[in-house]
Amino acid sequence: MDFELKSLSAEQAAALSADALLVLVPEVASATAIKGPLATLIEQATTSGDLETGVGKSLSCYRVTGVKSARVILVGAGDGTPAAVRKAVAAGMGLLKQPGLKRLVLWLGALSMEPAGVSAAVQACAEASYVYTATKPSAKARAVTDVVVGVPQAAAMQAGFDTGVAMVTGVEFAKEWANRPANHATPSMLADAARKLARKSPIKTEVLGPKDVAALGMGAFMAVAQGSAEPLRLIVMRYNGGEKGSAPVVLVGKGITFDTGGISIKPAAEMDEMKFDMGGAASVLGTFAALARLQPRINVVGIIPACENMPDGQAIKPGDVVTSMSGQTIEILNTDAEGRLILCDALTYAARFKPRSVVDIATLTGACVIALGGVRSGLFSPHDDIAVALQQAGERALDPCWRLPLDDEYAESLKSNFADMGNVGGRAGGAITAAKFLQKFTAELPWAHLDIAGTAWKGGAAKGSTGRPVPLLLQYILDEAARPSVAESTTGTKVPAKRTRKA
Ligand code: BES
Ligand code: MN
Ligand code: ZN
Repeated sequence: MDFELKSLSAEQAAALSADALLVLVPEVASATAIKGPLATLIEQATTSGDLETGVGKSLSCYRVTGVKSARVILVGAGDGTPAAVRKAVAAGMGLLKQPGLKRLVLWLGALSMEPAGVSAAVQACAEASYVYTATKPSAKARAVTDVVVGVPQAAAMQAGFDTGVAMVTGVEFAKEWANRPANHATPSMLADAARKLARKSPIKTEVLGPKDVAALGMGAFMAVAQGSAEPLRLIVMRYNGGEKGSAPVVLVGKGITFDTGGISIKPAAEMDEMKFDMGGAASVLGTFAALARLQPRINVVGIIPACENMPDGQAIKPGDVVTSMSGQTIEILNTDAEGRLILCDALTYAARFKPRSVVDIATLTGACVIALGGVRSGLFSPHDDIAVALQQAGERALDPCWRLPLDDEYAESLKSNFADMGNVGGRAGGAITAAKFLQKFTAELPWAHLDIAGTAWKGGAAKGSTGRPVPLLLQYILDEAARPSVAESTTGTKVPAKRTRKA
């Protein structure tokens, strides 16, 4: 999808020839009074009561006098906040499903815009028209291919527009890989996707296989992979947009390309959805695709442990004890709690990059789905500054998360008689005990964990990847890049800001 940002008055928007013109109408007329045929149309439609300006209320018009585009859709945009703009654009796009509708003008000139609103509009536009085609040749390709985004003053909105377009790139990359079935998204295929991204500098990709991972002593990661015929991959990506030696943000994404549960096998119903269990990995790949496009001045490392979790004669059994890269031993009481096993070794590995922060992203627990549903991702961190930064990035990017606690009492249930820890606690507080498990491998790290089990995909009729939390991650990285302490820190050995530990 091609987006273009333009300065357009209402008259210029009406004079542009396109297949459709989507006009956002605010609740209260903004200071920028508009003129021409669109002004007449909006005035008449609102006074007649045919158009309400509540968010998402709409009116479809055809061949309006003085307007070049055959179709004009007016959509109420309420108070014009980015969240309202997103809803309004989604509603408007829902009315534009006609075949042959290629070129769209999205006119935002009636609103008093902020850059985040332009970003939200661009994302909603892409979201509504995304089509998965990789394994569905009969699917109709995306209809709308060219979008002109019209605002009163393009220059003032350029940054928001660029961020929005980069988020779309990242979200669509993540969706594309997460939506692929497991036989079209094996660990090796994910590695190839990461290598392909590296062809666009300044990304470098390194892929480690079973022998390398054995040499590193990643016994927990290897244990999960041992039941599968597909060889594991440890994918390491580097985006070096910052100063040489400046401490990177490290993203660690859970890359279980299919989770059967292993010997602790899952029920058949909805097991197909476990192809999405590499949603964390997909979000890391997507974020790198966005970084390649936006090229901010910061260093970022992406680490993806990728494998299948299968039942097999070679598979790990409940009660097996493995030794992690950290040296700590783990009693695998439930082979379905595999995400934490691959992540713990990846987190130990992350320390070598001397990160300014490490964020792992994982479809980790069904318990997090119960706790937060599909609206907010679960956020865990003992470090207030990182937690606040991630929380705020999520709000700004309209990809929200919610912080959950990490009291040490929650770790009680991880005690084992046969190893340094078990890999599961009880059912109670399951999202938190999973996070407590990971915390045992991050003592020295400025670490946070995002449980995206509820937010990475949708089930039911609209089954599919959401591409979340790419917007949150990209926003967080951009915020970090803008922090003055980053530019100053060139040694890369110290975490710049003072860290506070939560009791
Ligand atoms: N990939 C699942 C988590 C999951 C489950 C995500 C359902 C989305 C929907 C994870 O590997 C898993 O199986 N977790 C177990 C942990 C349990 C055995 C402690 C779970 O949540 O049931
Ligand atoms: Mn599992
Ligand atoms: Zn899993």
